[in-house]
Amino acid sequence: MCGIVGYIGSRRVVPVLLEGLKRLEYRGYDSAGLVYLSKNGLVKHRAAGKLVNLETKLDQVRETASHIGLGHTRWATHGSPSELNAHPHSDCNGELVVVHNGIIENYHTLREELQADGHVFKSETDTEVLAHLIEEALPLSRNNLPAAVRRALKKVRGSYAIGVLWTGAPDQLVAVRSQSPLVLGIQENEGGGSLLASDIPALLPYTRKVVFLDDQEMAILRADGFEVRSLASGRKINKEIKTIDWNPAMAEKAGYTHFMLKEIFEQPQAIMNTFRGRVEPETGQICLPELDLSDREIKKLNRISLVACGSSWHAALVAKYWLEKWVGIPVEVDIASEFRYRRLILNENVLVVPISQSGETADTLAAMCLALQKDAKVVAICNVLGSTITREAHGTIYTHAGPEIGVASTKAFICQLVALYLLTLYLAQVRGVMSASQRQTMIESLVELPPMLERELPGWQEEMGRLAEHFVKSRDFLFLGRGENFPIALEGALKLKEISYIHAEGYAAGEMKHGPIALIDRDMPVLALAPQNGVYEKLIANVEEVKARHGRLILLGSRGDRDLARLTPHVIYLPVVMPDLNPILYTIPLQLLAYEVARLRGCDVDQPRNLAKSVTVE
Ligand code: F6R
Repeated sequence: MCGIVGYIGSRRVVPVLLEGLKRLEYRGYDSAGLVYLSKNGLVKHRAAGKLVNLETKLDQVRETASHIGLGHTRWATHGSPSELNAHPHSDCNGELVVVHNGIIENYHTLREELQADGHVFKSETDTEVLAHLIEEALPLSRNNLPAAVRRALKKVRGSYAIGVLWTGAPDQLVAVRSQSPLVLGIQENEGGGSLLASDIPALLPYTRKVVFLDDQEMAILRADGFEVRSLASGRKINKEIKTIDWNPAMAEKAGYTHFMLKEIFEQPQAIMNTFRGRVEPETGQICLPELDLSDREIKKLNRISLVACGSSWHAALVAKYWLEKWVGIPVEVDIASEFRYRRLILNENVLVVPISQSGETADTLAAMCLALQKDAKVVAICNVLGSTITREAHGTIYTHAGPEIGVASTKAFICQLVALYLLTLYLAQVRGVMSASQRQTMIESLVELPPMLERELPGWQEEMGRLAEHFVKSRDFLFLGRGENFPIALEGALKLKEISYIHAEGYAAGEMKHGPIALIDRDMPVLALAPQNGVYEKLIANVEEVKARHGRLILLGSRGDRDLARLTPHVIYLPVVMPDLNPILYTIPLQLLAYEVARLRGCDVDQPRNLAKSVTVE
């Protein structure tokens, strides 16, 4: 986790670092720190807690005219979230500093060795060993900083993206990437300088020209340019400069009280962006050239394996229903952290689909690497351009949700569903198992969703706001669904618990009588997803069982279904769409319910406690 940022150029460095850290705070917010080079050496400021604490500290500091520095926002892995453990970390003399995102697996041994050599450690972090290792390597590398960094990292095992600044090389920053993301920002005008960051939003106020570092690459940044070298050989590598078309305003709140709310309201547009250019409603054709699989390879597939974590796993669970129904291939769905620890039977006729908003989730990445080793075909579904997963997979279906800043996944989840729906239609098309007219109907229904959501969203927010007032004091919450809506019950429960801290569980409604029904009493809210589909009557029977035990029922059902009001005063009516699309439709009111409850409870909606946006550690 953690976010790192660095700058060298003609601007004053402190505001650049602070702005960058603000945009990376979603990656972790246990503590923050920055360092810059002044006439008198390195000046470090650090604070426990959110970035605002660091900003408050800096208010009392005289303005500095420094033009080179590094910043860090931390999500603790080794050592408590204290000021002492906040980055940057220094060598013995305070002449060299390191910021780091990742985990140094052999830090304990390295630390003991360094201590035996007389190095004194000030923090409990794994990161600090890096500063001391580089300090040791400098004299052995003729005080050449890039060479010393290379020498030091030969001893290190683990994942890292690092930035290094040394008083002996005041005209350069050195950055290295090994399994943790790092992107360079390239000056667009004379003197604009060079930047490094864990993610693109930190660069957008200054440049749209970026270079994605690959694993085992080192960058040397100067005020007038940069070079990239291989970490192993030191040889120069030519890198492609990419242009990012997000503008800075796309990463702002645009007038909403929280990023999460803004991102919920962006969903109609995000859905359109995800299917645009990939569907032809007139002919029923789907185009997904980015899959990079030949028709022959697709026809030979005999299994699909979906791997993901959290909300992305819920998207995979929905896709299982779609793929098995329409493509007729068996589908396995795994939580990525479990996938790696069972016997995997994979080969070139299995399609493995890692699903990840960030493209950096460590477990999903590791699961994907295993699948690649076993020769499976790998097509990722991902939101972040150039992220690690997209670079390793054979092909990627980008979700085009745009930057998602709120820690709870909303528009990224919905766009994952859209991408998986497109994948279903495409595989069915290539394998010749679905008629063009059926595909046409399904595409038309998808295309009708964004304007429908646009119309519904304001009303849903009001209704969910009222519902939230009723249930804000609840201690627990149950969500029920059946069929393709069962994963949405899981997603509704996850959204509520992660941002409001109310204990919530999602269940397949038919499972209630196998245990959970014992929880039902007059205080237990039970929200059931009850669209009129093939399992409607069975679901209503389960709901009756809850009612008979005086559970506090909330129903989300089809507009025009008069029966629901008989069961409870709390009914939310949704438009009728084809059953396959209900998971997309029914998720959105649940996002709003979680949002409204969390807001009423005064929770930090965009940055819930203990969480981070991208989970780059196992
Ligand atoms: C929940 C949430 C998480 C993520 C999970 C996977 O709202 O956001 O459960 O879905 O951490 O993250 P990605 O999709 O980036 O791999």
